[in-house]
Amino acid sequence: MTITLRSPLDMHIHFRQDNMLRVVAPLTAAHFAGGVVMPNLIPPVNTLEALHRYTGEVNAATYGYAFAPYMTLFFRDYSREELEAAKPHIIGIKLYPAGATTNSEAGVREISAMDHVFAEMESLDIPLLVHGETHGFVMDREREFCEVYRYLARTFPRLRITMEHITTRDALDVLEEFDNVAATVTAHHLVITLDDVVGGLMNPHLFCKPIAKRPEDRDALLAAALQVHPKIMLGSDSAPHPVDKKECPGCAAGVFTAPILLPLLADLFERHGALDKLQQFVSDNAIRHYRLTPPSTTVTLERTPMTIPPSYGDVVPMWAGRQLPWSVTNVEAHHTS
Ligand code: DOR
Ligand code: ZN
Repeated sequence: MTITLRSPLDMHIHFRQDNMLRVVAPLTAAHFAGGVVMPNLIPPVNTLEALHRYTGEVNAATYGYAFAPYMTLFFRDYSREELEAAKPHIIGIKLYPAGATTNSEAGVREISAMDHVFAEMESLDIPLLVHGETHGFVMDREREFCEVYRYLARTFPRLRITMEHITTRDALDVLEEFDNVAATVTAHHLVITLDDVVGGLMNPHLFCKPIAKRPEDRDALLAAALQVHPKIMLGSDSAPHPVDKKECPGCAAGVFTAPILLPLLADLFERHGALDKLQQFVSDNAIRHYRLTPPSTTVTLERTPMTIPPSYGDVVPMWAGRQLPWSVTNVEAHHTS
């Protein structure tokens, strides 16, 4: 059995810099025709100059692949002039509440104090991508943040908002309430719950923000992904950290999934009789939502087992050592003139 996907896209990726970038970016570019590159570097990508520099680094690391990096800026109090200058070079601006996750200390402390920036983004049609967590109890952070999503969606009805890596039924409710709200879902939040992270022996390689939630939440997300909700896109949040930052006290948040995403999803969708829906989840919805024209590629997966390697460089992937029944067997780039 085989499945062929057209121009798969990963709408939320952490590529990092330097050696890490050179290890992980080709793994994404080998399978995906494009992806949204997150700006939470130290210092964050929050000037046009830093954006151009980072875009160059990403292009160098993915050289030779048919891969479009869709770049983001790190949200701050931008002027209209800055937004106008950045618009042609970005897919959107990523907002992090200060301290919510890895490298987010420069994030926003008071969201309602930024209304003037949201208004300019709305008038310039620059999408807002959001890490939606409060500073409340860890299991409640996303649910609590839903009120902020509602405030933004209501106050700025033409601002295109993406709720990044949603993990709860509550976020699915917000999706239904507003035309201007879409969402990304990771692959790992479709298959794991908090039990997989801390229910038995603690698994640092499944620890991420937002933390995996209850079975009901996972099942609701999975149901939405499988029936291909038109506003839900794959955004893996693949977030590599060196093994010594994961297997230690004070483990960094992030699950590294880039090289296993398509086999994992093929298996998941096949087991639920929904292989024919995978194309929409991994590409079509994102193309429509962001009006993209990614490089034209075809990626073929076969029902040939893949054993997940113990590591890529010094990064341990999710489910290292396990076997997945599917593997990527062919990738073709179709050059259009
Ligand atoms: O687990 C996470 N890791 N969540 C994020 O939002 C950021 C990411 C990272 O950059 O490591
Ligand atoms: Zn992320």
